[in-house]
Amino acid sequence: MDELSRRKMLITGGALGALGALGAASPAHARALWTWAPSGSVAGKGAGLDPEWVWDEQADPVLAAVIERGQVAQVNQALRQWTRNDQPLPSGLPADVRDFMESARRLPSWADPGKLAAAARFTTKKGIYTGALYGLGSGLMSTAIPREARAVYYSKGGADMKDRIAKTAQLGYDVGDLDAYKPSGGMIVTAVKTRMVHAAVRHLLPQSPGWDRTSGGQTIPISQADVMVTWHSLATFVMRKLKDWRVPVTTAESEGFLHVWQVTAHILGVLDEYIPASWAEAEAQSRQVLDPVLASTPEGNELTDVLLDIVAELDAGLTRPLINAFARYTLGDRTGDLIGLDREPFWQPLISGAWPLLVAFREGLIPLPLIPQAAWTVEEALRKFVLLYLSEGRGINIEIPDANRPS
Ligand code: HEM
Repeated sequence: MDELSRRKMLITGGALGALGALGAASPAHARALWTWAPSGSVAGKGAGLDPEWVWDEQADPVLAAVIERGQVAQVNQALRQWTRNDQPLPSGLPADVRDFMESARRLPSWADPGKLAAAARFTTKKGIYTGALYGLGSGLMSTAIPREARAVYYSKGGADMKDRIAKTAQLGYDVGDLDAYKPSGGMIVTAVKTRMVHAAVRHLLPQSPGWDRTSGGQTIPISQADVMVTWHSLATFVMRKLKDWRVPVTTAESEGFLHVWQVTAHILGVLDEYIPASWAEAEAQSRQVLDPVLASTPEGNELTDVLLDIVAELDAGLTRPLINAFARYTLGDRTGDLIGLDREPFWQPLISGAWPLLVAFREGLIPLPLIPQAAWTVEEALRKFVLLYLSEGRGINIEIPDANRPS
């Protein structure tokens, strides 16, 4: 760690207690009343309970028992052998874990192979946009979601945030993979392992003094409402931006993209009654659960720095101002300010002028001579970023944590 980030860490570390207490009381944390109706979900019906008070009845007791029995290392060793959707579960898993995983790995009855294929075609065609949006949009936005930033900060992976971010990138990569939910793909594996990690975190984090101090009264982390907040920061946000950018998306591609995320939510353990059935329903739910919670936290700001440091590694920091400006263009100034993104007076106007032209040219809507030379610098930097983002995620094992971040 360089001197500047070490100092920043000390400063933010000292301020954590005070700011955490303030943060808990700030209006940004007031959640709107849950009024989203289960009739708008893939289930079409449901009890309509506020998902703020729902966690994961199947996974949580099983992972709590694994931790209590001291079997985390044994389970992780077995999980490392499990990489493909069609692979039988490895030996060495305790019976309760095996039973849970056999049931959790099943695709929902409503999974539609035609729509999943449309999603894969969509990523093939629009990967540069979705890659940039996941990495620089959703990835950075997650640092402005206080509960997510704090859960990540105080859990075991928070001690090595670069590694943590690389692991999360794997999910973005796998979702867009051509084979994601096919037998040869890996998305079921990634999502089931992630569901197990989240269940373990629900058992562990309440024992962390740092989390306890800043959790704003939440006693168990990662509620179903929290998972949907993050889901919207990925799926709904990306679709919203593609529309803003006037990227042509066919109805089949748009429905396919929604579908791959619906299936992902199900495998992550979200109840079908909370999974939106359409983009209109997703937008409505997002406005209720995501938009009001965005806020600045010391933990989130530190995560932002780590993310941007990864970007700076691309070429000794030269790209960072450009990436700052692109992220601001994508997230808007409100979120940009919340996460402490630098303002870039040179790059910002350039990007907001050039990017729409570049999109229009890439989509065959305008001829080449209309594109300013600087637009290619932007595209080149994004391409590098997307490649880095994807390669960071490859070949990484998602592991069940056995402890929190050491305090
Ligand atoms: C772990 C994805 C929602 C907190 C992970 C991992 C992935 C992931 C891929 C494994 C990476 C690793 O081992 O570090 C997702 C997705 C979500 C979601 C796709 C929703 C669609 C959330 C939410 C929270 C959260 C809402 C908290 C409020 C965590 C924590 C870890 C984790 C604390 C463990 C990090 C550690 O090992 O210490 N998540 N997540 N996640 N996630 Fe999530």
